[in-house]
Amino acid sequence: IQEWRRTSGEDVRAEKPLVIGFSQLGSESAWRMANTASVREAAKESGISLLLENAEQSQPKQFEAVREFIRRKVDVIAIAPVVESGWSGILQEAKLAGIPVVILDRSVNVEDTSLFVTTIGSDFYEEGVKAGKYLLDRMQNQAGPIRIAELQGTAGSSPSIQRGEGFRSVVKARTDMVITQSAPADFTENKGKEVMQELLQVPVEERPQVLFAHNDDMAIGAIEAIKEAGLRPGKDIVILSVDGSRSALQLLNDGELNAVVECNPLLGPLLMQAAKEIMAGRSLPKRMIPPEDIFTQERAEHAIQNRKF
Ligand code: AHR
Repeated sequence: IQEWRRTSGEDVRAEKPLVIGFSQLGSESAWRMANTASVREAAKESGISLLLENAEQSQPKQFEAVREFIRRKVDVIAIAPVVESGWSGILQEAKLAGIPVVILDRSVNVEDTSLFVTTIGSDFYEEGVKAGKYLLDRMQNQAGPIRIAELQGTAGSSPSIQRGEGFRSVVKARTDMVITQSAPADFTENKGKEVMQELLQVPVEERPQVLFAHNDDMAIGAIEAIKEAGLRPGKDIVILSVDGSRSALQLLNDGELNAVVECNPLLGPLLMQAAKEIMAGRSLPKRMIPPEDIFTQERAEHAIQNRKF
């Protein structure tokens, strides 16, 4: 990343800024907006030049962006992959071009893991486990059957797949606790509301007593639908979500949400650090996971004050 330049008869070392091409998957949620802002700010602070392409939930658009980064000979390519499958071909192209790839936020499912340097992002399975454990604990004195509705995120995305698996791995401990309804709502507030409205169109005795939403935005939409149906969110239906946006923590504090599992979007500094290490020829761990927590109603007020998104 350094080049020699001759100025007025002298050799001077001129720093060429490191260039990262980042394929962001979209702008579906408060989490995603915070993630994009974090990457932009961290690049600016580190003096790294950033080319950012928003793929609007389209994997083919992510492929186009990666090809464009290859044409422009960026130093490092970062990808936040919309879905986890189908990445081998494009990662091969980056490898052939000699450009290291960092996977950010969501993971990819490829056989040859040498196609990327590292994955920086949350442990989504563990997030599902935390939601499941909270529920088991909360329901320990409540007799079954306990019906759970699940609002999944984008079909085929790693957070949706893994949160669902982690959650199931825990709640299966009670055979009278059953996921009776499960549908994708794309991680968006509008879809969360729309799908929840549909899920509530069942006879009263089939209504869910619990909602597990794979992110805050869908939970926020669902809460509107629940209120419009004349029910009390957080009381008639226990609601769990993932992320920890300020809006969700406010609802937690208001008693309309019951628990929010943290997912950290502020990955920009880690990405910039990783890019610098790669360019300096250092090796990195294959997986980097930020520490995360779970927010309950008791802790909501305090947590809101420190929350960045
Ligand atoms: O990949 C992270 C997930 O994607 C966040 O939980 C969600 O809000 C986002 O859209």
